[in-house]
Amino acid sequence: MAEALGGDLLRIHRIITRALSVCRERGSAFARADFPDASTREGYVSYARALLSALRAHHDAEDELAFPRFRERIPDAPYDRLERDHADLVPALTAADEAVEGALAGLPAAAWLGRLLGALDRIDRLWHDHIAIEEEHFNVRTIGSALSPEEQGELGRALSAHAQQHSGPDYLVVPFLLHNLEPADRAAMAANFPPIVMQQLVPIAWKEKWAPMRPFLLE
Ligand SMILES: [Fe+2]
Ligand SMILES: [Fe+2]
Repeated sequence: MAEALGGDLLRIHRIITRALSVCRERGSAFARADFPDASTREGYVSYARALLSALRAHHDAEDELAFPRFRERIPDAPYDRLERDHADLVPALTAADEAVEGALAGLPAAAWLGRLLGALDRIDRLWHDHIAIEEEHFNVRTIGSALSPEEQGELGRALSAHAQQHSGPDYLVVPFLLHNLEPADRAAMAANFPPIVMQQLVPIAWKEKWAPMRPFLLE
């Protein structure tokens, strides 16, 4: 599949873009009116936790695997700027992680939600320009002319394995990835997971753990 890698990168961006918007909008409403019940609070915190984990894993995979490879074959992209953006996001990611830890420790919303929203605002301010640059330089067309289908498949599998090793917990992050995508994109992303993930883990074994995230996910 010649289009595999460009499509994978685009889908990860779509997931993170949607989740940033959902997390900021719904979080602002909860900051004004509090969480309606414990399950919604749990779902929101899980959703934010999965977003932060997926975002970190995506940047690490780009820095460690994708960019070194692309530098050889797509030399004109502004790698220094892109890597600096990743580094500039670290303090906001750390603040957001700490806010989520406060939530998981049972602190009242006033002690963590404002901090989380402030950190997400800082992430959001960098994110959109950052992915616009990436998508201009690393898309189906540019990757298709720089890497053979075999090379794309190899790098795509390495990126997927790297992201799965460096994100978690799986029972939150995998459903989060799948259900922040519309059905056609979801089917394409599902092909990156072993069959047991789609047939057993997401729908059965992990179901109760990720169910509270449903109000924030796509059907
Ligand atoms: Fe990036
Ligand atoms: Fe990216």
